[in-house]
Amino acid sequence: MQRENDLPDTIDISKRISEIGVVPVVLIDDSSKAVALTDALLEAGLPLVEITLRTRSAMDSIEEIARMRPEMLVGAGTVLFERDATRAVEAGAKFLVSPGIDPDMLKLAKKLKTQFIPGFMTPSELAAALKFGCQLAKFFPAEANGGPSMLASVCAPFLHTNIGFIPTGGINLENMMNWLRSPRIRAVGGSWIASRADIDGSDWAGITRKARVAVELANERSNGDRHAR
Ligand code: 3PG
Repeated sequence: MQRENDLPDTIDISKRISEIGVVPVVLIDDSSKAVALTDALLEAGLPLVEITLRTRSAMDSIEEIARMRPEMLVGAGTVLFERDATRAVEAGAKFLVSPGIDPDMLKLAKKLKTQFIPGFMTPSELAAALKFGCQLAKFFPAEANGGPSMLASVCAPFLHTNIGFIPTGGINLENMMNWLRSPRIRAVGGSWIASRADIDGSDWAGITRKARVAVELANERSNGDRHAR
């Protein structure tokens, strides 16, 4: 049954991520903190979170967020194995993110009718993402791999397509706007908004403060530009 705050079933996940413009990448060690974390992000106007499957608590956290805060767009990150993709979707993940690209995973995501955002560093990997109909791909690790100029060079032959990018890895408040200048970059991702230490220390006010600044910066560019080719 659809509840009042539920995301509509037909929500266009790519569009929503692009509208929001910032993806907090989260490592959480205690699922009993998942709702407080979510509330800290929602308080800042950031209804999006990627829970990486790198901790034992990740699946439970996704489940908790999906159940208790249906207005939050929750996804699973670091999805490396097909069984984890299936479990994450069953737990309530609305999108899946991976550091690399795996055709088997992309086929499975299609079957699960779930948006998959694969990682890429090279034109070949980006071409594979395109072949599987991905609307978004994660440029990872973004800063270590050469920064915005590297991404501009790698994606130049793909600009006649509609694929959009989410650079992640080494991005923070200081450098996020260097990335968001390009309309092809639909959002930036990173752990700086809600770090593992912040969550362990229950620093909800600190997370809200950082998330609010990130949202304000992301909002500085117009939605029109963000969706333009
Ligand atoms: C990820 O999983 O996307 C990255 O580990 C996040 O990178 P960051 O910690 O440098 O933001």
